[in-house]
Formats: sequence, structure tokens, C-alpha cells
Amino acid sequence: MAKVTAGVATSHIPAMGAAIDLGKTGEDYWKPVFEGYEFSKKWIKDSKPDVVFLVYNDHATAFDLKTIPTFAIGCADEFQPADEGWGPRPVPVVKGHPELASHIAQSVIQDDFDLTIANEMEVDHGLSVPMSLMFGQPEEWPCKVIPFAVNVVVFPPPSGNRCYQLGKAIRRAIDTFDEDLNVQIWGTGGMSHQLQGPRAGLINSEFDAKFLDSFVSNPDELAKLPHLEYMRNAGSEAIELVMWLVMRGAMDDDVEQVHRFYHVPASNTAVGHLILENRT
Ligand code: DHB
Ligand code: FE
Repeated sequence: MAKVTAGVATSHIPAMGAAIDLGKTGEDYWKPVFEGYEFSKKWIKDSKPDVVFLVYNDHATAFDLKTIPTFAIGCADEFQPADEGWGPRPVPVVKGHPELASHIAQSVIQDDFDLTIANEMEVDHGLSVPMSLMFGQPEEWPCKVIPFAVNVVVFPPPSGNRCYQLGKAIRRAIDTFDEDLNVQIWGTGGMSHQLQGPRAGLINSEFDAKFLDSFVSNPDELAKLPHLEYMRNAGSEAIELVMWLVMRGAMDDDVEQVHRFYHVPASNTAVGHLILENRT
């Protein structure tokens, strides 16, 4: 059977992608940021996922204001890189796993979560930056990826609790897929950040530290945090953190934290990164 072995959470700051693509990771500004991912790149070489279920948000790249799915699952064979603003990064095409994705869609929709099926979808920095942070710059990505887009860009976003419960439904779906697959689930975005308006550049390290603690050891409580509290305390784009809760819901209650990293600043944002393993 397919098995969820580990969860990865990380910020997906586009400037980090640009630093990788332009060979700037060794510069004074970026060095302490990328040092936080040295462990992770070694770890993932050993843990060798077959499939990554990658929860991220689209930034008006695949979906504009015409259509705004709250949750969209990528069921295609492949997904082309794209981005708003600077255009696509020079990264490999993302290969999907249509059979597992369709099984998850079937199971999760019958489990009362309404998903949008995306049979064609471009994927932006929300997905490609975490891939580069974990895998570096290979010719081809070393595993299949199921992109799962959550709307946190246009009001109203889903609640943290909805995301957490959805993660549990995704776990039930993966557990019943009849093929031996090593599956990881990733949640991207966050941490504190606000990109526009009078509060642009807002960072709340105290909020971020508490979030990281509760995320690992007390997710049931953390899931109750209302969406306005993320925005009020940690900036409007901190709402991206609800996507981490999809990952946490899909992991065991009791997990082992194998890596934790936090750094300020990178671009306008606090960088946060966790790796969790299931003990079973
Ligand atoms: C930044 C962070 C994001 O998550 C994003 O999607 C765009 C920009 C930033 O910090 O610059
Ligand atoms: Fe973002």
C-alpha cells in the first residue's frame, strides 16, 4: 500500500528561487538562508520519496479572478512551470501521478471535501521554489508530484481547521491506494509576511516561534486559530500558513521533528522550515 512517511513545510519565497537560478546562494545575504536547507537536501536523498503531494497556493498564475477554486488537485501527466511577473523559472517540467491523484480525488470528495479537478494546470513559485530548495538543480525532478492548490490569495480563504481536516481525509485516501509508494506531503508558504500597504514588511517572530511549536506538538489547538488572527498578528500573507495544516493533518498525531529552521529576513519575509517523520 502507499504510505505517508514524512512531511515537509517550507516558505516558498520567489527571491529564493531567483537566488538559486542566478547562482547567488553563496552571497552574504543569502548564505544563512540556504544553510538552513543543507540538512534537508541530504535528508531527502536518503528518504527518496516516490511521490510528493505538494500543497501550495497559486499566485494568480494558473487561476485568475475568473475562476477561484478553494482546493484544486492536479490530475495531469505533467505540469509546466510558469509564474506571474518574471515568467517561468528555468526548472524541469513537473511529472504527475494521475492514478494516485484520481484515487485521492475520488476518496476525498466522497469523504465530503469538494475538490476541483485540474487536468491542465501551470505551477508557479509556490511549488517550484520548495522543489529547488529540497532537490537543488537536477535535469529532471527525482520524483512524481501531485500539485494541490489552495486559495489563500482572494478572500475568503479556507479556515485552518478546514485545511487540517482535509489533510486527514487526504491521509485516509493515500493509505488506501493499492501500490507500494513512499509518499511525502509538503505544505508551503508563510511565515510572517505582508507584501503591501502600510504594514508591508511586517515580521512577528514571536508568532512564528509559537506556530512552529504548536504545529509539531499541539496541532489540534493550532487548527482552531481563526484566519483573521494570522493576518492581524503576522501580516496578510501569513494566511499561507494554513497550507502547512493540510500537511500536519496528513501526518500521524505523534511525529518526530527531524529538522527545524527559522531565519529573518529573506525578501520581505520570515523563512520557516520543518521536516517531520512518522514513527510508524
Ligand atoms: C514573497 C513571498 C511570497 O510567499 C510570495 O508568494 C511572493 C513574494 C516575498 O517575500 O517577497
Ligand atoms: Fe506566496
